[in-house]
Amino acid sequence: MMDLFSEIEEPEREELTALRKELEEANYKYYVLNMPTLSDREFDEKMHRLQELEAMFPDMYDAKSPTQHVGSDLAVTGYGLRVTGNKFETVKHKYPMLSLANSYSREEIEDWVRKLPSNVEIVCELKYDGLSISLWYEHGTLVRALTRGDGQQGDDVIDNIKTIPSIPWKIERDDVPDFFELRGEVLLPWERFEALNKEREEQEEPLFANPRNAASGTLKLQDPREVARRGLDAYLYYMLGENLPGTTHFERLETAKTWGFHISDAIKVCKNVDEVMAYIAYWDTERKNLPVATDGIVLKVNNLAQQEELGFTAKTPRWAIAYKFPAEKQLTLLKEITYQVGRTGVVTPVANLEPVQLSGTMVQRATLHNEDFIKSLDIRPGDKVWVEKGGEIIPKIVGRADREGLEVSGLEVSGFPTHCPECGAELVRVEGEAAWRCPNEAGCPPQIKGKIEHFVSRKAMNIDGLGEETIDLLYRQGLLHTIADIYDLKIEDIAAQERLGEKSAQNILAGIEASKQVPWARVLFALGIRMVGETTAKKIAKRYNTIDTLQWATAEQLCAIEDVGPQIAENIVKYFEDIRNLEILDRLRQAGLQMEGEAEAEPTSDKLAGFSIVISGTFSQHSRDEYKAIIEQNGGKNVGSVSKKTSFILAGENMGPEKRKKAEELGVKLVSEEEFLGMIE
Ligand code: IVH
Repeated sequence: MMDLFSEIEEPEREELTALRKELEEANYKYYVLNMPTLSDREFDEKMHRLQELEAMFPDMYDAKSPTQHVGSDLAVTGYGLRVTGNKFETVKHKYPMLSLANSYSREEIEDWVRKLPSNVEIVCELKYDGLSISLWYEHGTLVRALTRGDGQQGDDVIDNIKTIPSIPWKIERDDVPDFFELRGEVLLPWERFEALNKEREEQEEPLFANPRNAASGTLKLQDPREVARRGLDAYLYYMLGENLPGTTHFERLETAKTWGFHISDAIKVCKNVDEVMAYIAYWDTERKNLPVATDGIVLKVNNLAQQEELGFTAKTPRWAIAYKFPAEKQLTLLKEITYQVGRTGVVTPVANLEPVQLSGTMVQRATLHNEDFIKSLDIRPGDKVWVEKGGEIIPKIVGRADREGLEVSGLEVSGFPTHCPECGAELVRVEGEAAWRCPNEAGCPPQIKGKIEHFVSRKAMNIDGLGEETIDLLYRQGLLHTIADIYDLKIEDIAAQERLGEKSAQNILAGIEASKQVPWARVLFALGIRMVGETTAKKIAKRYNTIDTLQWATAEQLCAIEDVGPQIAENIVKYFEDIRNLEILDRLRQAGLQMEGEAEAEPTSDKLAGFSIVISGTFSQHSRDEYKAIIEQNGGKNVGSVSKKTSFILAGENMGPEKRKKAEELGVKLVSEEEFLGMIE
């Protein structure tokens, strides 16, 4: 007979399993990929629910559950998710690197204080929003700098940490113990973060969502010179080791300060919850003036003996707790809606606001996303709107205040323009997209100038001296209309411009001349074909080593290149169908640009000739790129998606479920890594 209870329990058991998977993935995306998908609050709520369910079903205990360990930034994670290319040494922590329990209100703080000894002293500190680092000092010398990793072991990123000027490599003091560990937070200051993103925007590279992601991405770079250039900083907040000086946490931090470490000045010893709340209230506003991002307060028991007595749970110390600030949001007046045309012609509605202070910067413009968003919230100039600067880089409008006592009819509806505010062309709305676009690519000023700015940018043709302002000047003088015009510029054209003398003109011309040596892959990227970024351009240029062969490639052939989907393929085909582009390309070729690259290595065997092979999953002997090269060297073809024409799938570990299903449906064979290597031996 059916067990009635298990039937009732079933959905909850399923929820438990689903939550474990969701939280594990959220951890992976946050720590490894630097792409957070859940807000901290959502994450905490889901974790709480999972804990509840696990308490209901002890038989479902799993040591790998996200409730049992902290998130991991290591290259390989508990549930088999992995990233490749990690070249740091993984080292076991001397003391596990734990997380902190979060709280969001006075009540939750009071609950925590109630569990502490009476008359306890509480140290209040800012909670820095970066990533934690553990520094090991032996006889005063920095010997290791470990990331948190999975809490048990971390990656040693010492070379990158040594680029931070405020971290001493050596401490020359008599009172330094033989060994101590200092933990803290690595951060990218706001100013550096904004400059880095600006640079990335110019290079058309994906932007970092916030300074934490930027710091994390930077710390995992393999090139310390690039790390140094970006300008990380660090605040230290926790000293560990045997026989260390001091009996309180506060004293230890004071000592670390005398050794030259960057210890925050905002630390305060509090005697009761009222003092803690006053500290929170003060810093909730004052933190906006700090050079680095903070997302809360950390409360710690000051006395080290008491800390020891309180101890730890599996994931967090009992002697400390975090208080998280609510997401930064401000209500302000929407003065006007204007429309901005981007390099690709997309028209974005922009809210022009009564300036407000938000997350450390003054905000007076925010995105209203698109027409549908404005309509759905019925936002009109004169409204009070909520502006938020959360995880994203660009402030956004997230809501509208009630129009108390205000006549709605008194506010004029701001209709979305039908024509481009820059060039007057009729806007088009691509089916399935929310954006309106100006189709006048060749005649719309921001699109023309944007294309040229992209062409000369560092990762493209790298023409020094031709910045935004100069391009604007030359454009307005009628000297620069297309990227090909750059190669017709004469020294007197440039030198005649206001603020530009003979010397700058010479520099610009030298840069233009040097750009003629820029390799084909970068030239292709510089052309600015929609959605063809730096990496995609490299892959295309490898497959099509002259512009002539690329020009005649069909969308289907282009789709066979890794990373090229139907949309990109169509954009490339369309680009070459436009006679204006062909004229530009002709002029660029005559100017002497590199329109050819190294031919791809000829196949060295025909063992895989005629085979169409899909690579899926992760491998232990070679990387995916290496397998791709092996397939091609043996005369085979590597294709991106499974179809009837696929000969077989080179299947590694953790092959995607979609691909597996498709393979089963179509009866496509799976070949393991070992079998495959056997085939080509
Ligand atoms: S103490 C045993 N103090 O917040 C826990 N952590 O959410 C020791 N953090 O992993 C951590 N500012 O990366 C501590 N003043 C501060 C902090 C701080 C930021 C980070 C740290 C920790 C995370 C927990």
